[in-house]
Amino acid sequence: MHDLVLRLPDDFHVHLRQDADLPAYAREARDRFGRVLVMPNLAPAVLRAEDVIRYRQAIVEAAPGLEPLMAFKLTPRHEAVELRELAEAGAVAGKVYPEGVTTNSEDGIHDLRQIWPLMEVLEETGLLVCCHGEKPGAFSLDREERFLDEFCETASRFPGVKFVLEHVSTAAAVRAVGSLGRNVAATLTLHHLEITLDDVVGGMLKPHLFCKPLAKRPEDREALRQAAFSGSPKFFYGTDSAPHHKGKKECAAGCAGVYSMPVALEGLVDVFDRAGELDRLEDFCSSFGADFYGIPRSTRTITLHRSPWNVPDLVDGVVPYRAGETMPWRIASVSDS
Ligand code: DOR
Ligand code: ZN
Repeated sequence: MHDLVLRLPDDFHVHLRQDADLPAYAREARDRFGRVLVMPNLAPAVLRAEDVIRYRQAIVEAAPGLEPLMAFKLTPRHEAVELRELAEAGAVAGKVYPEGVTTNSEDGIHDLRQIWPLMEVLEETGLLVCCHGEKPGAFSLDREERFLDEFCETASRFPGVKFVLEHVSTAAAVRAVGSLGRNVAATLTLHHLEITLDDVVGGMLKPHLFCKPLAKRPEDREALRQAAFSGSPKFFYGTDSAPHHKGKKECAAGCAGVYSMPVALEGLVDVFDRAGELDRLEDFCSSFGADFYGIPRSTRTITLHRSPWNVPDLVDGVVPYRAGETMPWRIASVSDS
């Protein structure tokens, strides 16, 4: 097969950053996705309705044609009235960051139970809860697993609220999401489907593969791949493409984040193709996420050709995922409607 036509995918977890950095990252996303759920961990954070409106406007101006789905940072300090205003402003999800586990999360929560008082209004407004699922203070390789108890307890106790466990990285998280009700789903990234911790620190240090949650063991990666190929609507694509300028990665205290957007669809096609699972791809990247979020599946299409190209060493000042490698699939065109 030399041509692949897919329903235009959505990315349910992306970092587009702000100010001078925003246009390039947003346009890179527009080349591959119809809708993107935009993460709110800016400085200052996207917290209130006016922040959502302002940030959405900046994204639309930077990359006309890209449809941003807006998330805000959900904190125990939010008032019910603010959540209602956020929903009215078009936000679709609140993102929960545990304290100190990733970029700009110093003001995060210690325990998911801290947001239980907000569940009633979250259910009423239909706002989803997206969780960065890592337990502050736990040993770094155990942080995701240690978060699962409070996640499972919360998601079971509030079946009227939808929860997304973001960028799952362990077999334990896949099992937990699979065992929970229909109100629970998970996003999977491209890089967690491909790498293990050995790719990051097993030989020479690879700062451009350093991300949170850390890539884990081969058996964890295998569980993530099986989840992506399973046809279960609980697992869908969220790239967690997280650009940091080269100098912020290649330094003494480097930022976490993999800039996968420049290969975010081409690489995903390659993963499914090499596994002989291309039949499962469209549901994973273009249908299950929209279904879970309760938005229509896209009516647009994207066409890829099997035609090798080399990933640049640098894209807009950032070293992209798979820099310098040859990608077998290339994006050919996107339909208008
Ligand atoms: O590696 C990561 N980078 N993980 C996150 O959760 C946040 C992201 C970022 O914003 O850089
Ligand atoms: Zn993220």
